[in-house]
Amino acid sequence: MKFFLDTANLDEIREVASWGVLGGVTTNPSLYCRIGGKLEDFEAHIGRICEICDYELPVSAESVSMTRDEIVADGIRLAAIAPNVVVKIPTMIEGLAATRELAKRGIKVNMTLCFTVPQAIMAARAGAAYISPFVGRFDDISEDGLSQLAQVVEAVNNYDYGHPVEIIAASVRSANHVAQAALMGADIATVPYGVLKKCVEHPLTDRGLASFLADWEKVKANA
Ligand code: E4P
Repeated sequence: MKFFLDTANLDEIREVASWGVLGGVTTNPSLYCRIGGKLEDFEAHIGRICEICDYELPVSAESVSMTRDEIVADGIRLAAIAPNVVVKIPTMIEGLAATRELAKRGIKVNMTLCFTVPQAIMAARAGAAYISPFVGRFDDISEDGLSQLAQVVEAVNNYDYGHPVEIIAASVRSANHVAQAALMGADIATVPYGVLKKCVEHPLTDRGLASFLADWEKVKANA
């Protein structure tokens, strides 16, 4: 499973890139709002993320339009920012139609706000290269987001769509979400920075490290 970073924060992206685990970045309007992003700077900001990603790792930038023609126009404009831009489009009829048009032009789409098996299969059929089933938002309404994700992974992988389709476990809120996504065969988890840091940590790692360092002090004292 690859790790994408779910953020628009450049420092977080640079930091995770330095760990050697960054597989891509996903942004959305809320994440851009959270960093105080300005409308007129949006495309330049996506360009800066693409640069940190060496113009190779996929960077999802979301359309906020509601009609197919406008979404396609957004997609063409966003894709022109850098070769590694993936156009993020909400799962809805106009989004499916726009995905079909963009895929025909060779522009990659990440179909977002996906919650059900039929939505995911339709996204794949329309030509989406990535599908983002949301986990945490199901948990937020007292449903089991992980079992919903498992159903999407199983159903999508039952079929061939004539093009590669990768499933991105999205709306990830915990290290357990990440672990379970990997166990069920999700291709990617897009993870907020704080959760990704927690994925590195374990109390037994901390305890083991403390005892190794303490014993090494004793070795030094014996010198
Ligand atoms: C990713 O593509 C989504 O935009 C993101 O994971 C949503 O997460 P949230 O439900 O925590 O806002």
